[in-house]
Amino acid sequence: MNFKTLIILLVSAMIIWSCGEPPIQEPIVGDVAIGEAIFQSNCIACHQSDGKGKSGLAPSINNIDFLAIADDHLIKRFILEGRTGTTMIPFKNIPDVATNIDDLVAYMRSWSKDYALYKEIVIDKSWESQGDATNGSALFTTFCAACHGNDGQGYSAKGSGTGIGNPAFVSMVSDDYIKQTLLLGRAGTAMKPFDGAKGVASLSNAEMDDIVSFLRTKGEYKMEQVSSSSVSSSNSVSATTDMSMFTNPYFVIIMVMLVFFALLLIYMMFIIKRIKGLILEDEK
Ligand code: HEC
Ligand code: HEC
Repeated sequence: MNFKTLIILLVSAMIIWSCGEPPIQEPIVGDVAIGEAIFQSNCIACHQSDGKGKSGLAPSINNIDFLAIADDHLIKRFILEGRTGTTMIPFKNIPDVATNIDDLVAYMRSWSKDYALYKEIVIDKSWESQGDATNGSALFTTFCAACHGNDGQGYSAKGSGTGIGNPAFVSMVSDDYIKQTLLLGRAGTAMKPFDGAKGVASLSNAEMDDIVSFLRTKGEYKMEQVSSSSVSSSNSVSATTDMSMFTNPYFVIIMVMLVFFALLLIYMMFIIKRIKGLILEDEK
């Protein structure tokens, strides 16, 4: 292999690697007042005023624990993609909502400020539970089915809890999101925390992992692509996130380093050729 192919291989490997870096998920910026107006006309029928929810109709989305674990991009995705098989329709098909989605998210995020205790929990989206799904299934029947339905169908099975066995739900949430929901519960709702002292029913860490692994059998997690064009709107925020690869500081640093190493290699090739030439000349 000569140096040219080596450089080409190196450069392409580094480009592929830098593009594979997860996009930086910056908070969504929007106009809270516009978002509130959109919420009033499209969401309160089910989620009630201020998003407090109503058991059996729609979950409480102003919930302190929900807002702590769901980041802006996940909230946006929940709204745009909806939950197939439930009354939560994909709002990407409703132009009024789709074009003002960032404002709507900004409005929902403004609720977090109402809570003195509010803390943002960073979800490790790459964590995969290594639990035992079979045991998880049995635990689910004992501890979750009464509210979420035998198979996690949720409201459609007359449950008071949401459809957590629905592929439309599990495909959008990471294992850690489910685990953190079990640890935290949802304050002020029937969803209590399941860990030890605080919980109604005490589940061990391993048992929670088993349940997460059981729910994972309902559908594969597809991490959201922040820079994808799933949004039909063309507002300024999504336009800037489309450029995230080039504004990403890591990407810029990597590119600068790449150019530096490529130049260094070319220079070394040049030197080696020179030395080779000198040796050959010597041998003559
Ligand atoms: C016709 C009733 C209905 C309307 C209208 C509606 N939703 Fe929903 N929404 C639901 C239901 C039901 C669920 C839970 C479905 C399930 O998983 O079982 C849900 C779930 C959600 C979730 C996920 C909550 C969680 O705990 O995971 C968010 C976020 C949400 N809705 C936001 C909105 C917003 C914003 C609007 C207005 C643009 C809206 N919804 C309009 C019924 C509705
Ligand atoms: C007493 C009823 C009840 C029990 C038992 C219960 N849940 Fe829940 N769960 C709820 C309710 C109600 C919600 C929605 C809360 C809200 O309004 O935000 C919920 C929400 C959730 C969510 C978030 C879903 C979403 O749409 O974001 C997950 C995940 C969840 N529960 C998992 C479980 C698991 C796993 C178990 C068993 C270990 C369990 N729950 C037991 C009532 C219950």
